[in-house]
Amino acid sequence: MASPSRSRKIAPSILAADFAHLADEVAKVTPECDLLHVDVMDGHFVPNISIGPAVVTSLRPVTDLYLDCHLMIENPGDFLDQFAKAGADSCTVHVELGDPRPLFDRMRAHGMRVGLVLNPETPLDAVVPYLTEIDILLFMSVHPGFGGQAFLPEVLDKLRAARAIVDEQSLPVELEIDGGINHETAPPAAEAGADILVAGSAVFGAPDSAAAARAISDAAWGA
Ligand code: DX5
Ligand code: ZN
Repeated sequence: MASPSRSRKIAPSILAADFAHLADEVAKVTPECDLLHVDVMDGHFVPNISIGPAVVTSLRPVTDLYLDCHLMIENPGDFLDQFAKAGADSCTVHVELGDPRPLFDRMRAHGMRVGLVLNPETPLDAVVPYLTEIDILLFMSVHPGFGGQAFLPEVLDKLRAARAIVDEQSLPVELEIDGGINHETAPPAAEAGADILVAGSAVFGAPDSAAAARAISDAAWGA
C-alpha cells in the first residue's frame, strides 16, 4: 500500500484533448485531477510536434490547475524563460540531453519547480546524482513522442528502486509516471511507488473524461 504521506495525483495529458475546445476539455476534467500535463514536442528530440508556450499562456487564465510542462525538446534552455512567463508551475527536462544543472538553476531563478525525466531505456543511475536537486522525477513508460502507446511494465523496477531511495533519504521528490496509464496499468504503477499518474488517451479519449480520471485514481489508490 502507498504510504499516506505520499501524493496521489492525477495529471491528464492535454496532448489527447480536443485542442479546438481546450478550455472546455480542461474544465470538464478539473474536478477529478490535480495537475495538467503539457507535452511539448519539437520534431527533433522526438519525432512529433505538439504545442509550445503560447498554449500555456492561453491556459493560465482559464485554470487554477498546476501546469506540469514536459519538455521533449532538444534545446529546453532556449524556452525556459517563455514557459515561466507563460505561467508554467514546473518544467521537466530530459536527462538524456546532458547535464541538467544549468537548467535547474534557471528554473529556480524563475520560481518554477524542477522536474527531471528519463526515457524507458535510460538507467536510474543517470538521475540518481540529481535527486537532492529536483522536485519531480518523471518516468517515461512509453517511448516519448506519441500518446496512445502501450505501457512498458519493465519501467516499474526503476520506479520501485527510486521509491526506495526517496523514502530512505526522505527526499521531497514526487515520482511521476507517463505513458500508457489507464485503469489497468495505474494499480501496478501506484504499487511501485508513483505519486503522480499522467494519462492522456485514457482520460480525454473516454466519453466522460472526469469519470475516466476518477476511475484511474480509484483503481490506483482506492475510492
Ligand atoms: C508521450 C507523452 C505522454 C502522452 C501520454 O510522449 O509524454 O504524456 O501524452 O499519453 P497516453 O496516456 O495516451 O500514453
Ligand atoms: Zn508527457
